[in-house]
Amino acid sequence: MLLPQTSYWYSNPSARSWQTATPESALSFHRSLHGYTPTPLVDLPSLANELGVARVLLKDESNRLGLPAFKILGASWAVCRALCQRYNLDPDGMTVPRLKEFIRTSVGVAELPVLVSATDGNHGRAVARMAGLLGLSARIYIPAGLSSSAIDGIRSEGAALIETDITYDNVVTLAAESTEGEAFDVLIQDTAWQGYMEVPQWIVDGYGTLFGEIDDALQEQHATGPDLVVCPVGVGSLAQALVEHYRSAGNAAPALLSTEPNTAACIAQSLQAGKPVVVDTSYPSIMSGLNCGTPSELGWPALMAGIDAAVSVSEADCRQAVLDLRRLGQDVGPCGAATLAGVRSALASPERRQQMSLHETSVIVLVSTEGLAANPLR
Ligand SMILES: Cc1ncc(COP(=O)(O)O)c(C=O)c1O
Repeated sequence: MLLPQTSYWYSNPSARSWQTATPESALSFHRSLHGYTPTPLVDLPSLANELGVARVLLKDESNRLGLPAFKILGASWAVCRALCQRYNLDPDGMTVPRLKEFIRTSVGVAELPVLVSATDGNHGRAVARMAGLLGLSARIYIPAGLSSSAIDGIRSEGAALIETDITYDNVVTLAAESTEGEAFDVLIQDTAWQGYMEVPQWIVDGYGTLFGEIDDALQEQHATGPDLVVCPVGVGSLAQALVEHYRSAGNAAPALLSTEPNTAACIAQSLQAGKPVVVDTSYPSIMSGLNCGTPSELGWPALMAGIDAAVSVSEADCRQAVLDLRRLGQDVGPCGAATLAGVRSALASPERRQQMSLHETSVIVLVSTEGLAANPLR
């Protein structure tokens, strides 16, 4: 199949001065999870040299709570909040063992909740992991074209897997429809639409932990920055968390750059159009977690107001970025490497550099959202 080669670019000069409310923190819940530790923030001096800036740091999500992607941060907090709401429990101070014990002792076997989600890989596995930790079952819907390792990953969590031959957007609809009228199904979806906003916001709040960790690591080093944070986008929920973190009081106000495949650039194209647009995602992409055609309705206003720049990247440039990062000893899957491909494209032009206020002393953070185990190069 011949891939469209158009690369998209967008910038918004007023994004840096936009402010929003401080988001809910899931940090104390995450700290209570078995194996929680902040993921590494790794200095890559040769990339700083290549890009003509002071530092390039990679936020490495290749091992987040034992999974090869960041998604468990959102899924864990959303599952906790959704179950607390269902059973009228106080989420403040809630932990997985306490929730599990409550379910074991207070919920009848015939009334056990089933966690349901659609996924392009990482989110579904994270939901399935949470179900396992709580002694529950999960039903996970997947689109066409998912890699066998992503499928095996979800299966390995013990979830019921519903394989389809439709696109990600359609599989989201299918999963949501499957829960209609099912009293014990709990839909844990990482994108939002009219009438389904609460769970996606909890997911976004959960992602916030990742950005707090970046700030803490820089503070521990007595380092400045970040001046630019580069974030891969699918439906834009992670980018919503990025904006809500860095555009709320008390945090640095770096430039924020989103990056996604040329073939599924729903965020860049929507930002250019000034309104959400839906794009065709029937082309295959090695960045399978970013192969989404519809921006999350919840995240859209924050992205429109607070994202400084958006870029899209080719399959070949992303593949090259995976290989270059591997040569530097980094375990980075295609979605994570899309940040390097994106920043290379963005910094190649002096005009774009200026639009993001970047210079030789700047500190850039690349949010590498997955390791290769999540999504091997195909
Ligand atoms: C590894 C990875 N990175 C980034 C994203 C993009 O997240 P969002 O869809 O919230 O934009 C995803 C989404 O599935 C993902 O799996």
